[in-house]
Amino acid sequence: MTLAVAPPGDNRLSAIAADIAAHGWSWQPNLLPDELTAALRTELQALNARQDLEAAGIGREDAFQLDRSVRRTRISWLDGSSPAQEAFLAWAEPVRQSLNRELLIGLFEFEACFAVYPEGGFYDRHLDSFEGARNRVMSLVVYLNEDWQDDQGGALVIWPEGAGEAGTPAARLLPFGGGAAFMLSETIPHAVEVTHARRYAIAGWWRVNQSADKRVDPIS
Ligand code: OGA
Ligand code: MN
Repeated sequence: MTLAVAPPGDNRLSAIAADIAAHGWSWQPNLLPDELTAALRTELQALNARQDLEAAGIGREDAFQLDRSVRRTRISWLDGSSPAQEAFLAWAEPVRQSLNRELLIGLFEFEACFAVYPEGGFYDRHLDSFEGARNRVMSLVVYLNEDWQDDQGGALVIWPEGAGEAGTPAARLLPFGGGAAFMLSETIPHAVEVTHARRYAIAGWWRVNQSADKRVDPIS
């Protein structure tokens, strides 16, 4: 089985780049085609039912910590091994190319994971990339729930670049299925508010190529 989906249209792609250039993030309702959202949701629900997800930590490798007071999520890395994953990675590629063309930011590799927040799940305010860490430059979160209701919570809260903890958020976005949030990984602080229903998403990051300075830098 293969799943063929159209990439976002040129107008949508230009709007994303313009938002990023203006303030470092972009919210795009209904960016993912319905068919793809549904296929990814089905796969994630099956993974969740089989308990085939790992507890998400903060940081990776040496810095990895499991701190349930900061983040309560279960994840599974995408490897393109199912038609839905393959279609999603194929869908993301023209997005990468467009961002590179319009913003000249040299996005290179993409890594992404399925994420399930159980009821009561959340993720405290954070940046996706720390200076010099893993060279994540652009974050993408896509939402996979069907019929999300306002009172179910689980909003993605975005602060403007440089805003302190007490700063006023720039946006509070409910995770409606098919919606996509783009954020500059190193500069846009964000958080996930407590969710009152099981919340399905994919969180991904594009990285720049580090192989140029004489060391290979594969995705791990
Ligand atoms: C993340 C993250 C936001 C969301 O996984 O790093 O910030 O809305 N996710 O799920
Ligand atoms: Mn994040």
